[in-house]
Amino acid sequence: MSKNQKLEVEKWTNYYLNLDSFLQPNEYLLKLLIGNYEGKKNFLSGKKSWRKTFSKLNVLDLSCGDGRNLILLDKLGFNVFATEISDEICQIVCENLKKHQINELQIKTGFNNSIPFKNNFFDFLVSWNALYYLDHKNHKISENLNEISRVLKKDGIFIGSIPGPKCYSVLGGTKVGASQVEINPTTNSNWGGGLLNNTILYLVETKQHLQEILSDKFYEIEISELFWDGFGSAPLHYFMFISKKK
Ligand SMILES: C[S@@+](CC[C@H](N)C(=O)[O-])C[C@H]1O[C@@H](n2cnc3c(N)ncnc32)[C@H](O)[C@@H]1O
Repeated sequence: MSKNQKLEVEKWTNYYLNLDSFLQPNEYLLKLLIGNYEGKKNFLSGKKSWRKTFSKLNVLDLSCGDGRNLILLDKLGFNVFATEISDEICQIVCENLKKHQINELQIKTGFNNSIPFKNNFFDFLVSWNALYYLDHKNHKISENLNEISRVLKKDGIFIGSIPGPKCYSVLGGTKVGASQVEINPTTNSNWGGGLLNNTILYLVETKQHLQEILSDKFYEIEISELFWDGFGSAPLHYFMFISKKK
């Protein structure tokens, strides 16, 4: 493990050790999975029964955080698998899920660019606000996307969320590459007690930009954009997508 990865692991492990988890799944992930939108042409839209659609399919929640979205995925009928970046976080997730009577979780320690599962194993992969974590300035987003593609079955569904340039988490970050920002301690010190300070994140500027980086390995890409001004102090700006592995 590199020095940067060790620091990242330490920061996030401390964060989850001290987090009073609410475990509420992300409502937009729920909408993407079972919402029926006219503009959403992919195969998820218009399915009459989500029970039949998701039952017994293998889903990976890549970097699942405290496990909040796993509760939703389990409820939808998936076989749930997960990763997080330290054994301690994985342990916290298991404890959190036990409180929701989920004892079957298979969770392993891994990173965006080293996913500890075999090739072509997953029907679905969810990366909710985690795809854009880079270990260093030369870490390319394609490494993460290639690894995600590796573990998905052909035509497997890749669902994700990634901040846009107006999101509180990247605001004021210092550009350190064409599409990379380093989070600057003085501009973003409040969130998570400075959790992201010095972290390098991949920055997606537009829907078109996201489309381009996904299109090498994925097809039938649909992207939606969300902006909420957060009462003027903590704006949320996300791109959310559904796609299929080529
Ligand atoms: C904003 S949280 C999102 C967690 C979860 N997906 C959710 O929606 O609640 C970002 C997650 O990415 C993980 N992370 C940090 N660096 C990473 C890396 N290099 N590779 C993979 N995951 C990373 C952190 O441990 C953290 O749980």
